[in-house]
Amino acid sequence: MTRRKKLYEGKAKILYEGPEPGTIIQYFKDDATAFNAQKKATLEGKGVLNNKISEFIMTRLGAIGVTNHFIRRLSLREQLVREVEIIPLEVVCRNIVAGSLATRLGQEEGAPLPRSIVEFYLKDDKLGDPMVTEEHITAFNWATTQEIDDILAMTLRINDFLSGMFGAVGITLVDFKIEFGRVWEGEFSRVILADEISPDSCRLWDTATGNKLDKDRFRRDLGDVIESYAEVARRLGIMKDMP
Ligand code: C5P
Repeated sequence: MTRRKKLYEGKAKILYEGPEPGTIIQYFKDDATAFNAQKKATLEGKGVLNNKISEFIMTRLGAIGVTNHFIRRLSLREQLVREVEIIPLEVVCRNIVAGSLATRLGQEEGAPLPRSIVEFYLKDDKLGDPMVTEEHITAFNWATTQEIDDILAMTLRINDFLSGMFGAVGITLVDFKIEFGRVWEGEFSRVILADEISPDSCRLWDTATGNKLDKDRFRRDLGDVIESYAEVARRLGIMKDMP
């Protein structure tokens, strides 16, 4: 086996050069971090679960026309994805008040929002991922107005689909974070969904009990982190071929 070239190591994933030009191997680590890596732990099995859950979600989104970087799963912890020029934004969509929205604006966690809110954060660990507006995004050329429009439309479509998908298995999609990348076709580029969608990047509450089934279990020391991620996978029906 030849040694693969590591392109980037993040907090929860490693990116390796893919087998063909224009492809990347996305490796899911068991590492968990929170509060900009001030809190760290290794959660045995998290990478395997997130790889499978993200595969499931990306495949379904692809089937409804949300173009994304997922090509195929390669192994328990690895998936082959399309190489993109990452847009340096974290796009957060919220249906219910929670997390930083609750603390920053003094709102009650759990209150439903009258309509979904989309927020943009600059991906920059040194700056602590500050919130930015569309005007900042275009002023500093992180994305064009057309790209922002495309991102907003795709984000709301993803929110509609995922809210229904989770709702059908008794899970409330409170909020989530997604990332987008640019792919070039000749001199034209378009925006596609990239990164991952998993309990690391979503808030998922059991609709019947209100139990948290996501990374807040780690952030808030609630215990049973892996059991909760596994419960999400089980409800989505993707545990059948899990080891
Ligand atoms: O912390 P906050 O309330 O802003 O998070 C909103 C959503 O975005 C949550 O689902 C959280 O898991 C996700 N998020 C993320 N990565 C970050 C920040 C937030 O996945 N760096």
